Parts: sequence; structure tokens; C-alpha cells
Amino acid sequence: MSQTQRTVVVLAAGEGKRMKSATPKVLHPLLGRTLLGHVLSAAAAARAEHTIVVVGHQADQVRAHLDEIAPGATPVLQAQQNGTGHAVRIALEAAPDAAGTVVVLNGDVPLLRPETVEALVAAHEQAGSAGTVLAAEVDDPAGLGRVVRDPAGRLERIVEERDASPEVRAVREVNAGIYAFDAARLREALSKISTDNDQGEEYLTDVFELLTSVGHPVGVFVAPDAEETLGCNDRAELAGLGLRLRNRVNTGWMRAGVTMLDPATTWIDVTVTVERDAQIEQNCRLTGRTTVGAGAVIGPDTTLTDTTVGEGASVLRTHSIGAEIGPEATVGPFSYLRPGTRLGRKSKIGGFVEAKNAELGDGAKVPHLTYVGDATIGAKANIGAGTIFANYDGVNKHHTTVGEAAFVGSDTVLIAPAEIGPGAYVAAGSAVSNVPAGHLGVTRAAQRNIEGWTERKRPGTVSADAARRATEEK
Ligand code: UD1
Ligand code: CA
Repeated sequence: MSQTQRTVVVLAAGEGKRMKSATPKVLHPLLGRTLLGHVLSAAAAARAEHTIVVVGHQADQVRAHLDEIAPGATPVLQAQQNGTGHAVRIALEAAPDAAGTVVVLNGDVPLLRPETVEALVAAHEQAGSAGTVLAAEVDDPAGLGRVVRDPAGRLERIVEERDASPEVRAVREVNAGIYAFDAARLREALSKISTDNDQGEEYLTDVFELLTSVGHPVGVFVAPDAEETLGCNDRAELAGLGLRLRNRVNTGWMRAGVTMLDPATTWIDVTVTVERDAQIEQNCRLTGRTTVGAGAVIGPDTTLTDTTVGEGASVLRTHSIGAEIGPEATVGPFSYLRPGTRLGRKSKIGGFVEAKNAELGDGAKVPHLTYVGDATIGAKANIGAGTIFANYDGVNKHHTTVGEAAFVGSDTVLIAPAEIGPGAYVAAGSAVSNVPAGHLGVTRAAQRNIEGWTERKRPGTVSADAARRATEEK
């Protein structure tokens, strides 16, 4: 049997006044996607031929975001936000061929699961209804539309709180703002919708009473989990949704075999993946396209953005953006990996190291207090404490190559462009650009000692006293 034709309409034209933001409400981020991104991702389960997003308030920003995350979706402009019914009417006018099922979703319900969208559409199509609303039983229905049923339990109408009688206000079954409709019936009903309500707007919810009044069957699909239907009106609600999503994501990874020391301080974007037996310690944030390999240990106090962590690696108190950390490599504490950093197998970045566009071969080590910028470091090379890769001449950046198993002494400056050959040594405290394979490079001045200097030039100091005692003992 071929699938019924389907169209998705996402309502995203409203301002979201209570967010008090220069950013439109639906573009606020929540663990790796915007609110709109979450809704589109759940709506994908409807497997629709067309997706329409109704834009209005700050339409250019919303359109630009859609270009990025859903280039196949069609933005349709609702210049004035005259209500949810008006928004859907405009969307359907822009899609005169849309037939079959129309799935309508508010743009601000980020916890909605794809499985719920799929189940709503299936229930609607199997029942042959003209319209089906996703409903939820909630403790506090304040501000939401109430689902009014007849004594037999059939949907009669949906009433906005501000238009509701005290009896209707007492109902705790609410409209989630997510629906499936038969396209033809929806078009008919929308053409008859009035603005005779407290806000003087065209309410999409009025469609249900219009459909039942002419005998078309309508249905209610109750969400398996009321949490999924929560909308977002202000920043406090946004934070509340973030907590719930965080718990859902963390529980998912723990059930999949990831150990978390403290899920309450572990924040993982929905776009991140973590393999089995990885261990995440407290206060970690994993974002963007980050992936963590099996058995890796992350944290405590670590932020990874767009970072790949290999199997068995360990990343301790580190901030990393756009780096690839190889299998069994170790990083940290207190280090900063920037884009283009690639660490080979069993390589090491120790404490207080900053690396940018730097490749470390297998087993290479940069253990302490070093800046590595624009460099290729061979396998098993060792970079001493306090080494600086001086990559910038004030105008351009230059590259440094350190050969396999080279040994760079402490407090060295490698002045790029630089080439240290395989097996070469650089003496501590040198400033060099070229040391051929197997050579020792030294640029320190020769040492000279001035006998008795402290007692002559710093008489009466603790140093002079110590010096005198030491020379007398001899
Ligand atoms: C709506 C429902 C209400 C439901 C609630 C769930 C109506 C009349 N009421 O109320 O029954 O309980 O959602 O959250 O539909 N939008 C547009 N254009 C407009 C108006 C709104 O695109 O002209 C968009 C908004 O950006 C938002 C969504 O539609 O994404 C819902 O709008 P909102 O104003 O939040 O509706 P509510 O009054 O909360
Ligand atoms: Ca709302």
C-alpha cells in the first residue's frame, strides 16, 4: 500500500515576547539544536514530501537558519501574526497541491519524540479522521488550550484558556499544539474560521468545532509522556526543558553502556555520540559533532566541541575545539586544544599546553607548559617543558616540522619556518630554526661565573650570608 501523501507545517512566525530576546524564540539553542531544529527533527518521522515552515517575526534570521539545517524545507512568510489558524491557512495557500495528511506542529516543543509524531499520524490515518489533536494530561494547565470532550469521551472542541468558562478551565487535558489533519477538510474549515475570540485572532483550534459541527470525525491522541508536549515561553522554561532533555540524553547513554559519575553536571548535545565503557566524570560538556570512543575517560571539568576522542584516550580538565585525539592518547590537566590539532596513538599533551593546527605522531609527547602552533611533530619526539613554537612573524603564520624521535630541550623557541630533523637534539634554552637529523642544535651563550659577586655586591642580604657560610665550610 502506498503511503498517504503528507505535508508538515511548522509554525514559527511568533515573536516569543516573554523570551525578551533579540533572537526569535524558535532559534534559541537547547543541547545541540535550536527549538525549531528539534521540532523539525521529530517531524521527520512523518516522512512528508513537503515541509513548510511559517516564518514572520525576524523572518530573515529564521530563513538563514533553515538554509543551514533544513535546506529542503520551504519558508512561507506570515507578515502579520494573526493567529495559528491564519498561519496554517497561509502555509496551505503556498502549497495548493498538498493533499492527504497535513501534520501541524508548534515550533517551540523541543522534547517531542519522533516516535510520538509517527504514532499520532498512524492513529489519525487509520481512524480516517478529519483532524486529530495531540493531547496531554498535565498538573498545571495554565495558559494552554483545554480539550473539551462530550459525555462519551469524544472530542467536542478546544477552548483557549482566556475564552474558557471556570468549568472548562478546570480541565487538565490540554492541547499540545501538534495535530494531524486531512488536507481537504482542513482547507474547508480554515476558510470558515472567525476571529470572534478574546485575542481577535484566527485560532487553528477552532477547526475542531467546525469539523464536528458538520459531522466529520475528529480524534484525540494522548501523548504517552506529557513531558514531550511542553512548550517554551520564557528563559526559565527554556532552562527547565534543558534539564529534562539533559536527563533524557544522559539516561540514554548510560543505558547504552556509558559510565557517568555525575549525570547532573554532565551536558551532552543530542548530536554527540559516546561508545561503550566510556567514562564521563563530573562537570563535562560535550557539544556539536563530538564523538567519544570506547573506554575513553573524559573529565572532570572538560569541554569538548566538535572533537573526536579515540578509544581508551584520557582527557582531563581540558577545553578542546575541533581536535582529533587519537586512541590511548592522554591530554591535560589544564590544556587547550584548538582546531586542526591531531594527536596520534598514545601521544601525550600534558599540563598547561595550548595546541593549534598541530599534528603529533604516535607516541609523541608535549608534557608541560608549551605552545604548539602550526606544527608537525614526528612519532616519539619529545618536546621539553616551556617550549614555544613561534609560528607568527607579526604578518604571517609559518609551519614547523619536528622529525621522528627528535628531542627538544626545555625553554626552547622554535622559530618558524623551522625544521628539526629526525633524531636531532635541541639544547635547553636555545632559539633555533634548523637542526639537521642527528645533530645537536645549541644557541645559548657560554656560561661565565664571577667569583664572590654576592658578598661584594649584595652585602648584608640573606643570600650574602648563605654564600659566606657555604664558602667558610669548604
Ligand atoms: C497554542 C494553542 C493552544 C495550545 C498551545 C500549546 C491556538 C489558538 N492555541 O496556544 O491551544 O495549548 O499552543 O503550546 O493555537 N504562531 C505563528 N503565527 C501566529 C501565531 C502563532 O506562526 O500568527 C506560532 C508561534 O510562533 C508558535 C506557535 O504558533 O510556535 C504557537 O503560538 P502561541 O502564540 O505560542 O500559541 P499559544 O497561545 O501558546
Ligand atoms: Ca505557546
